[in-house]
Amino acid sequence: MWMCKMFKTIVILCLVVCSVTAELCSNSKKDKKCVCKRTTDSELLFPVTVADCSNINLNQFPINGELDSELNYLDVSLNNIQVLSAKSRLNNTVLRRINLSRNQVSNIDGGFFDEVPNLDALDLSYNNLTSIEPNLLKGLHILHNFDLSYNNLTKLPWGVLSSAKELFIVDLSYNPLAEFLNFPGTLKELEITTNLTSISLNNVGFTTLINSFFDGYNKIKHIELADNKMELIPSLPQSIEFVDLSGNKFTFVSAAYLNYKSLKVLKLNRMPSLVNIHHYAFFSLRSLKILYITDCSNLKEFNELVFGSTYHNYDVNPTSIYLARNGLQIINDSYEYFFDVMKNVDLSDNPWHCNCNILWLQKYNTPNSVLDHQKNLRCSTPDDFSDRSIMSLKDHELPKCFPEKFVRTHHRVVVSIMILSMIILLLFILYLLKYTAKKNSNNVGPNSPYNIQVTDD
Ligand SMILES: *[C@@H]1O[C@H](CO)[C@@H](O)[C@H](O)[C@H]1NC(C)=O
Ligand SMILES: *[C@@H]1O[C@H](CO)[C@@H](O)[C@H](O)[C@H]1NC(C)=O
Ligand SMILES: *[C@@H]1O[C@H](CO)[C@@H](O)[C@H](O)[C@H]1NC(C)=O
Ligand SMILES: *[C@@H]1O[C@H](CO)[C@@H](O)[C@H](O)[C@H]1NC(C)=O
Ligand SMILES: *[C@@H]1O[C@H](CO)[C@@H](O)[C@H](O)[C@H]1NC(C)=O
Ligand SMILES: *[C@@H]1O[C@H](CO)[C@@H](O)[C@H](O)[C@H]1NC(C)=O
Repeated sequence: MWMCKMFKTIVILCLVVCSVTAELCSNSKKDKKCVCKRTTDSELLFPVTVADCSNINLNQFPINGELDSELNYLDVSLNNIQVLSAKSRLNNTVLRRINLSRNQVSNIDGGFFDEVPNLDALDLSYNNLTSIEPNLLKGLHILHNFDLSYNNLTKLPWGVLSSAKELFIVDLSYNPLAEFLNFPGTLKELEITTNLTSISLNNVGFTTLINSFFDGYNKIKHIELADNKMELIPSLPQSIEFVDLSGNKFTFVSAAYLNYKSLKVLKLNRMPSLVNIHHYAFFSLRSLKILYITDCSNLKEFNELVFGSTYHNYDVNPTSIYLARNGLQIINDSYEYFFDVMKNVDLSDNPWHCNCNILWLQKYNTPNSVLDHQKNLRCSTPDDFSDRSIMSLKDHELPKCFPEKFVRTHHRVVVSIMILSMIILLLFILYLLKYTAKKNSNNVGPNSPYNIQVTDD
């Protein structure tokens, strides 16, 4: 009995001592209490101390002493913090990440991040910032990842990123920044390091992008420019590997704007304005692996030459093409050579015109074939076949194309039969010839009884 009591005491003692002493921390999440724990960063495989204070109705940023002084990652997202005042700034040299996303921050004192010199990721997305102080980031020398997306910023102070010499990723999306940004050398005036590898400028209001915008930034691999109002594909750095240009106002796509030898992923989704993809449009994208062109309702054709020449000698070898929910009616059977060596093709929910030219897709009517969402491959026209699954069409329902298909799929058989018939015919002729020759030798040869007798007279 006393053993049990002692054990209980030990447990209670341990709970008091072992549980985190910081007053904001708790073992489970409740109103205004964070979950603090020691864990392993799954990417870096490194032990870290984490405080998860997300979605706990915080009105104020935690102050020193409320949290473990050894804290590495602090998540205060999804709260109601409005002001970050210098008085409550954290003083912590081991803090590496702060997530302030989805609060209502409209004001940050200039020196707020001065005492967290080892911060490498700062997420300020989804707040109410309309401006930021020029010295806001001056203490953050190793900031790698800075997210200011979904605020209401119309401009940024010159030189704001001058201290962040190791900045790799910056996200300024969903701020009305177009007018401010679209001048030669803006990125340099902001003192964004030319070592930058990723920049997101979705929905900032660009109608055009000046050609020199990325000049000097030769290490950028990832660019997002989706949901702007651009009518032409802008000029990008040659180093680019991923680009998202979805939701713009392009009416056509042509090779003249797509000459990026390292580009692996190209996204051109959600553009009702897009009606034409020119021949050879993607011909120069020699590294292209994944192409997205979805939700472009007025795109009726994905012609057989968008990657260049047809059949076996393609230079571009994507592994995945997503063409769902466009206005496509036909797709040329020369893509068979393409699809045969690919991983994913999505042609679903297009208004296909069903005639014999579409039957070649039935080749991919197997569960693990390259073709995704096969059930959603349906005819739109002609009326007789409206909403029929392409995979369920029968040859005899399309009588006019029966010979064509027959010839196509039974090509070899037909040729073999023809060759065989010719051989038989040839043998028969030979036999006939021989037979007649023999008959002749018996009957009408020089010694034949029917031969005209040569007399000596
Ligand atoms: C931050 O903490 C260190 C020691 O932990 C102390 O020396 C320094 O004065 C503090 N700075 C501020 C601004 O509180
Ligand atoms: C910050 O928190 C939000 C909401 O909880 C989450 O969606 C986002 O991915 C987090 N940011 C980072 C950099 O982890
Ligand atoms: C922040 O902005 C959102 C909409 O963007 C608005 O609903 C909210 O009231 C704003 N909060 C403050 C404190 O201004
Ligand atoms: C953004 O700021 C402007 C003023 O600068 C204001 O008129 C507008 O309502 C704000 N938008 C949002 C979504 O808060
Ligand atoms: C870019 O990074 C290299 C090392 O990776 C460094 O030597 C150079 O100073 C950096 N350049 C800038 C402009 O920060
Ligand atoms: C497919 O493209 C080739 C090459 O341009 C063309 O000869 C052929 O007629 C096309 N097939 C169909 C069914 O349109």
